[in-house]
Amino acid sequence: MLEKDIKETFYSKEEIHERIAQLGKTLSEDYKDKNPLVVGILKGAVPFLTDLVREMNIPLEMDFMDVSSYGNTTVSSGEVKILKDLDTVVENRHLLIVEDIIDSGRTLNYLVNLLKYRQASSVKIVTLLDKPDGRVIDIEADYVGFEVPNEFVVGFGLDYAERYRNLPYIGVLKPEVYEKNS
Ligand code: PRP
Ligand code: MN
Ligand code: MG
Repeated sequence: MLEKDIKETFYSKEEIHERIAQLGKTLSEDYKDKNPLVVGILKGAVPFLTDLVREMNIPLEMDFMDVSSYGNTTVSSGEVKILKDLDTVVENRHLLIVEDIIDSGRTLNYLVNLLKYRQASSVKIVTLLDKPDGRVIDIEADYVGFEVPNEFVVGFGLDYAERYRNLPYIGVLKPEVYEKNS
C-alpha cells in the first residue's frame, strides 16, 4: 500500500534497528547515573524515540515538546513557535533532545538555546537522520544515526503531508506523489 509511493529505500528496517541498538548502547554508557530527561520533539521523533529508549538500559525520564517553524517570513531569526511545552522543570537536568532529522537546523538551534536559558545542566542532541546539505544555521547533533542527501525522505517518523510516518524504513518518495498533491 504505502510501498507503491516509494521510489527507493535509503535505510532498511534492519539497518535502522541495528543503528538504534548501537546508539542506545552508547547513550546508556554516556548517561548512566545522570537520570537524563529524554525530550522528544513531536511528531516526527516518536517512532525513533520509542525504539531508542527501549535500547537504553538505564534510569531516565521522558517528556515531549511540539514546536512549529514560522516559515519563510522569519528565516533569518529562525524563530519557532511552541505548541506544547515540556511538563518538566529542566533546571539542573541533563537533557537529551531526540529528533528524526536535522535539516536547516532552525528547530534545534531554537530548542537548544531555550533549554540552556532554562538552566539545564547539559543539552545534547540525538537525531536519526542528518541532512547536512539543508543546513542554514550552523548546528550539529551529538549523536547521528545516518546521513541523508538533499532529497525528500519519508518514513520512521518523517512525513509528507502528515503521511508515511508509519513506514518502517527510510525511503524517497516518487515525484508524482507530491506533484499530484501540489
Ligand atoms: C521536521 C522534523 C524536525 C524539523 C527539522 O518537523 O521532524 O523537527 O522539521 O527541520 P529544520 O532542521 O529545518 O528545523 P516538522 O516541523 O515538519 O514537524 P513534524 O515533526 O510534526 O513533522
Ligand atoms: Mn519534527
Ligand atoms: Mg513534518
